Amino acid sequence: MITVSSPLDVNRIREDFPILHQRIHGKPLVYLDNAATSQKPKAVIEAIQHFYTSDCSNIHRGVHELSERSTYAYEEARAKVQRFLNAREAREIVIVRGTTEAINLVAQTYGRQRVEAGDEVIITALEHHSNIVPWQMLCEEKRAVLRVAPINDRGELLIEEFERLLSARTRLVALAQVSNALGTVNPVGRVVEMAHRRGVPVLVDGAQAAPHLQVDVRTLDCDFYAFSGHKIYGPTGVGVLYGKAALLEQLDPYQGGGDMIRTVTFEKTTYNTIPYKFEAGTPDIAGVIGLGAAIDYVQGIGMGNIAAHEHELLLYGTEALERIPGLRIIGTAQEKAGVISFVLDGVHPHDIGTVLDQEGIAVRTGHHCAQPVMDRFAIPATTRASLAFYNTFEELDALARGIGRVQEIFGAC
Ligand code: ALA
Repeated sequence: MITVSSPLDVNRIREDFPILHQRIHGKPLVYLDNAATSQKPKAVIEAIQHFYTSDCSNIHRGVHELSERSTYAYEEARAKVQRFLNAREAREIVIVRGTTEAINLVAQTYGRQRVEAGDEVIITALEHHSNIVPWQMLCEEKRAVLRVAPINDRGELLIEEFERLLSARTRLVALAQVSNALGTVNPVGRVVEMAHRRGVPVLVDGAQAAPHLQVDVRTLDCDFYAFSGHKIYGPTGVGVLYGKAALLEQLDPYQGGGDMIRTVTFEKTTYNTIPYKFEAGTPDIAGVIGLGAAIDYVQGIGMGNIAAHEHELLLYGTEALERIPGLRIIGTAQEKAGVISFVLDGVHPHDIGTVLDQEGIAVRTGHHCAQPVMDRFAIPATTRASLAFYNTFEELDALARGIGRVQEIFGAC
């Protein structure tokens, strides 16, 4: 049995999350679906409410007081993201709808402008569909080649195999920092070093990393970094693309509309500066302000404390689940974030999810938008418990008991 310890006062923290204090099917809610979306603290909910009750106006467009306030709050949120990622400048932070849109933005700008027939884009075998499909679409259009760096049976990137894929035709490497299906933490720093030695830029999908680890884009030295607001305790519909200024400046925008222009005539349009040339149309202003509040909130707790608590939860939960006969954890990398994906002999993950729901426990079941990962492990689906800093050791005990209940019902070993 491992000793449990945590740098956080989790009971106090849970007071900040109104949604956690409810019963589901008569049982206390145990929310373990944080990789799909995480819950929102009062500070985020109140920031959004404040915007709509006091400051609501469009940004960058008015001289009146409300517009000034909205613009200030929006740009302040951008500056918070900049500091959170340790980006050099606020203009390196492009506001988008989420990680998916950020990756599509890079595919449709950098990709379409730099990738030609016969060129190659490298991804890894543990990517989410959002870091596969945009590159497939690009490669199809350009008649370029998508290369996939393999993983081992623990779900770890085979770094030497990855390095062998780098060639004079490689135009971009795109990889997740943390796998949503397996929890693997990729050695992004080493990947960036290897790619940069050959002059190849790297995009990091940080959707599952930014909420759980201290991210520093200058230390990583990645060229693009994407993450979503709703996974970092902020609202849905808002996310971030970080790009090195020198690179963003060279790219033409792919969406036209208001705010992204400097001048427009019927003959010719000239574009705004970065990041605005990539932010056509009115954004989710309240969402961006909510994201700023979420960043303040997690920084108040401390990313180091969050990572430490989640690591303790991961060890505890892994040990508890490993004791269950017939249960196999999928994704056993040495470097892992708070994701426990598993299969159970004789029971389909959807049935596991349904029984757990009756016990008040929310998990995700299915392929987790990572079908190639399921294929790699020759399974159709897993049940996935994904952790956040507001989760407790008792909730992981409840999960283990819930799986016991599944086995009773299905008569599994
Ligand atoms: N990408 C999210 C997940 O892993 C939705 O569940």
